[in-house]
Formats: sequence, structure tokens, C-alpha cells
Amino acid sequence: MNEQIFAETDQYIAERLGQESEAMLYARNMLAANGMPDASISANQGKFLQILAMSCGAKRILELGTLGAYSTLWLAAALPVDGKLITVEADLDHAAVARKVIDYAGLNKVIEIKEGNALDVLGHLEKEDPDPFDFFFIDADKPPYLEYVDYAIRLARPGSVIVADNVIRGGAVLNQASTDEKVKGVQRLNDALSAYENLTSTIIQNVGIKEHDGMVVAIVRKI
Ligand code: SAH
Ligand code: DHB
Ligand code: MG
Repeated sequence: MNEQIFAETDQYIAERLGQESEAMLYARNMLAANGMPDASISANQGKFLQILAMSCGAKRILELGTLGAYSTLWLAAALPVDGKLITVEADLDHAAVARKVIDYAGLNKVIEIKEGNALDVLGHLEKEDPDPFDFFFIDADKPPYLEYVDYAIRLARPGSVIVADNVIRGGAVLNQASTDEKVKGVQRLNDALSAYENLTSTIIQNVGIKEHDGMVVAIVRKI
């Protein structure tokens, strides 16, 4: 087994089942043209998230970590016509690019970008007591991942689905002595999940065009 076969197989799947929209291609061009981090999910991961969101009948989606809105577009395509997606981005330059992408996609009535630190925005959302979110994609900074999940549960309904990206990190999570703050952040979440009585959780290991990584997939049982 080598990474080449994972990348080629990812391509094989994407050619058949991970076709990107015009706006997704535009997002990828904008990410490259603006020298933004190479941190977007892959097309096949986007399709996977879209299917998960559809399977829980998502009408309201909350995303933490927008970057260039690439994952946002995959998720928005899961929504019914009256659906709504809120995406949170702390970096104003990233948010500006994401806004152009969302305008290009004609989705500025469906997708709302909230600029700010995800913990602050979550605090405001909780106080505002909005309708529950059906689907969460957690993909911002890694150290507060556990707090992000705790907020998500409070903003959810029974049956809501919570996904958190980058929780395996090339297998770096196996090292319990890691001093990397990103690794420690996701380990803290991974280690805590089984004790949540209100969640049923697993981690899907991902290989493909991106570095070996994984996503938490959890369903809220009760709140
Ligand atoms: N979800 C995107 C990738 C997100 S990359 C995709 O797959 O297409 C992570 C993003 O989180 C970056 O844009 C970064 O600026 C943002 N971010 C980092 N820390 C944050 C925080 N505390 N609050 C909100 N966004 C944050
Ligand atoms: C980084 C963040 C991500 O969410 C990701 O999927 C890949 C990389 C990063 O911060 O480097
Ligand atoms: Mg990510």
C-alpha cells in the first residue's frame, strides 16, 4: 500500500461520483490565487458530508471554519430551498474570499458568513436561542474542538449529526506524549467521546488525495 494508490483511487471515485460545480471550481481557483492554506476538504469528502446532511434531513447547518467556502458549497447543496447555512470564519481575508465565492454561487440568501472567533459566535448563538441546527461541520482551529462539540450539542436536536475534521492527523494522535497543540486538541475530543451519554460516535479514517486523517461522526441522541 502506498499513498499513490490512495490518491489515484480518490481520483477514480471523484471522476464518477464527486463532480464539482462551477462554483466549487471557482472556490478552488480563488483559494490558489489568494495563496490561502491548502486545507479544504476533498471533493469526495464534500460529497460524503452532503450525503450525511441529507440523511438527517438537514434544513439548518452550522459550519465552523469557512476558509474559501469549498466545504460550505458541498454542504449547501444538501439543503432544501428554504434551508439555511451559517458558517463561521475568524480570518477576515478568508471571509472576504468566501463571500465572493458564495456570491458567485448565487447563494448569499442561503449562506450567512459570521466573521469572528468560533467560541464567541457560538456563545452569541446560544444566547440568541435560534432554532436547532440539524448538522454541524467543525473544521476551525483544533485546540477547542471539545468545546465546539459541547456547544454543538446545546444547539442541536435529537438526531442532529456532528462531524469534526482532522482528528487523526496522519496517525499523530497515536502518540499520547505529543506536544503539538493541534494533536492535543483532537486527542482531547477523541478520548472524551465515548463518555457522552447523549452522543453515539465513531471516527471515519480517511485516505485519498489529502494526508491520512479522519473525521468524527456523531449523532445526538438526546439533549
Ligand atoms: N472548512 C474548510 C476548511 C477550513 S480551514 C473547507 O474544508 O473548505 C480552517 C479555517 O478555520 C481557516 O480559514 C481559519 O482561518 C479558520 N479558523 C481558525 N481558527 C478559528 C476560530 N477560532 N474561529 C473561526 N475560524 C477559525
Ligand atoms: C489545516 C486545517 C484543516 O481544517 C485541514 O483540513 C487541513 C489543514 C491546517 O490548519 O493546516
Ligand atoms: Mg479540515
